[in-house]
Amino acid sequence: MVSRGVKVTIAGSMINFFIGTFYSWSVFADGLIHQLGWTRTEANLPYTVEVFVFAMMMVVAGRFQDRIGARKGAIISGLLLGTSFIFCALFPAPPGITFFFGIVFGTGAAFGYAAVTPAAMKWFPPQKRGLVTGFVVMSLGAGSLFWPPLINALIVTYGVVQTFFMWGLFLLAGVLVMAYFISEPLVAPADAGKEGVSAKLEWKKIASHPTFILLWLMMGLASGTGLMVVGHLVQIAEINFRVESGFLLISLFAFFNTGGRFSGGLITDRIGYRKVLFIAFLMILSSMLLFLGTDSWPGLLLGTILLGCSYGSLFTAFPAAIANIFGLNNFGAYYGMLFTALGIGGSLGPFLASSLAELYGSYNMAFALGIAASLLALALLFVLRKISS
Ligand code: 2OP
Repeated sequence: MVSRGVKVTIAGSMINFFIGTFYSWSVFADGLIHQLGWTRTEANLPYTVEVFVFAMMMVVAGRFQDRIGARKGAIISGLLLGTSFIFCALFPAPPGITFFFGIVFGTGAAFGYAAVTPAAMKWFPPQKRGLVTGFVVMSLGAGSLFWPPLINALIVTYGVVQTFFMWGLFLLAGVLVMAYFISEPLVAPADAGKEGVSAKLEWKKIASHPTFILLWLMMGLASGTGLMVVGHLVQIAEINFRVESGFLLISLFAFFNTGGRFSGGLITDRIGYRKVLFIAFLMILSSMLLFLGTDSWPGLLLGTILLGCSYGSLFTAFPAAIANIFGLNNFGAYYGMLFTALGIGGSLGPFLASSLAELYGSYNMAFALGIAASLLALALLFVLRKISS
């Protein structure tokens, strides 16, 4: 007999698998460019808007899950994710798709993502939280490996507009079925957060809490560096390394991103989130040094692997940090607020990388920025250790 906790964990992971569609946006974008004659900027804008809206809506979605519950959050997610793609098919012009994918899908993704991690965590003891989180978020990375070939085949066979419609129905059905399996224990775990910060802390006060501010800055610096490089990987391969098949690096990154989520979770349970963050920041630093200091493909390959692993592990180490420090009672709201750092870092990083690449004709300045960001994240981690020991 499969326990309720395991069922919730699997259903949560499946919901994230569907949400992971957004990591395949470049395949839809390619269809829009080649079949509907969109410019590259028009085709990329819905994605930029989606990542920002997703991160910002995590605050609202996280609070919703704390107060109203995870299953309702997952149902709202299914309705929004499904209808967003159906409406993309009905309004296939830049304003329509930017609105429906960028804003509606981004909001739906936040409601689903915010609901499933805490719902799964609540069924397990604290020493298994990393593993459970790793399993739940691993599928987002796996989606970015699995969906692109399927979506591409649909677009080639039926056209991009029909594919939007079919994908909408698929997401609607898939997420709503999985939402049925999402539940939370009747008695919430008595859990005030190990490190002595009251779980009853007013959620508005959290924003000025020194520990939270440090975590927020580290999240922004580390995820911003990761997203800065991922968003430009194909061009980095071409311009800095003269490697043509840069798209293969995207799959390599996705593979190690998936593995990093799971193994990061597993290791977090053994050695704690601080050591995992320390290793992750060191790996990001090493990958930036490799990108900057080498100009041949082994450096590019190793840098991509290090970055994939460390980027993935952020999404298990940070939730574990929030659960450990502040407990699970307001987890949704706190983690949602932490996630706004990804919205800002994830918009600023790729933007700075393209501006610097245009100015200097290579990505070297962007890598130097990545080195500075990871050194700063390491320094902030030492401050965190000092103030919480
Ligand atoms: C993640 O990849 C949603 O960016 C977030 O887990």
